[in-house]
Amino acid sequence: MPILPITTVTDLRRVTDGFKSKQQTIGVVPTMGALHEGHLSLVRESLKNCDQTIVTIFVNPTQFGPDEDLRKYPRPPGDDLTMLEALGVEHVFAPADNEVYPSGFSTMIDPPAVAGKLEGEFRPTHFSGVATVVLKLLNMTQADVAFFGQKDFQQVLVVQTMVADLNVNVEIRVCDIVRESDGLALSSRNVYLSDQEREIALTLSRTLSHVEEMIHEGQTDGFEIVTEMRQMLIDGGVTSVDYAVVADPKTLNTAETISLPVVALIAAHVGETRLIDNRIITL
Ligand code: PAF
Repeated sequence: MPILPITTVTDLRRVTDGFKSKQQTIGVVPTMGALHEGHLSLVRESLKNCDQTIVTIFVNPTQFGPDEDLRKYPRPPGDDLTMLEALGVEHVFAPADNEVYPSGFSTMIDPPAVAGKLEGEFRPTHFSGVATVVLKLLNMTQADVAFFGQKDFQQVLVVQTMVADLNVNVEIRVCDIVRESDGLALSSRNVYLSDQEREIALTLSRTLSHVEEMIHEGQTDGFEIVTEMRQMLIDGGVTSVDYAVVADPKTLNTAETISLPVVALIAAHVGETRLIDNRIITL
């Protein structure tokens, strides 16, 4: 059956009230559209684990900085709905900007401390926008479970901390990064990459694999590892590196001496496209 997206909170509430009255669990997959296999893996998890699944599609303006790609962010709604239909999704919430941020809207979340590191240093307003829209989407959809990808590692920490700090009654489930067979992490922004840039983009996942090898071979010097990460990224042709770090997976604090588990995180520009990737490294 073709999906007819729900576009207003009033219509959405009618649907979710129906689910609640039947004691059905609601799984929500928040997205900005331009869906790829990474998103679809979250949707499959929700379909498998929850009675009802709602996929939200909303390109959230408040999480883009003034010099970022809001206007050119890919928006292929037809393709998105076709992919979701093929999986058996019945409910898509795709509100317009003024439904989420009506005139007079003025409340923004001040995100937890972990938001100030890494991404927060380069995109200072980003996580306030993310936290605000996620909280609104959780409230609008009355979600019991919300599914996020590990690809946005820091986003997951921000959302988990916000949900705990504000006693939001939802379970956050984190799903693995989905990669192409050559290691490239799936991202809606990969469509911006030329063939040559796509080759260069592989340097991110190769660098993460190298970090994992170094650590498993006994390297514990955080400074040495990070220096090698940066060098490998530059040698691989990336245009610039925003950050390349090995950090504590709970706090994102970096350490001089590595003690597992850690997470290696990279944000780098390939041409005009900013890419992020990460790897959790355990014993
Ligand atoms: O990860 C994303 O696509 C977005 O940050 C999210 C969680 C949908 C909020 O706009």
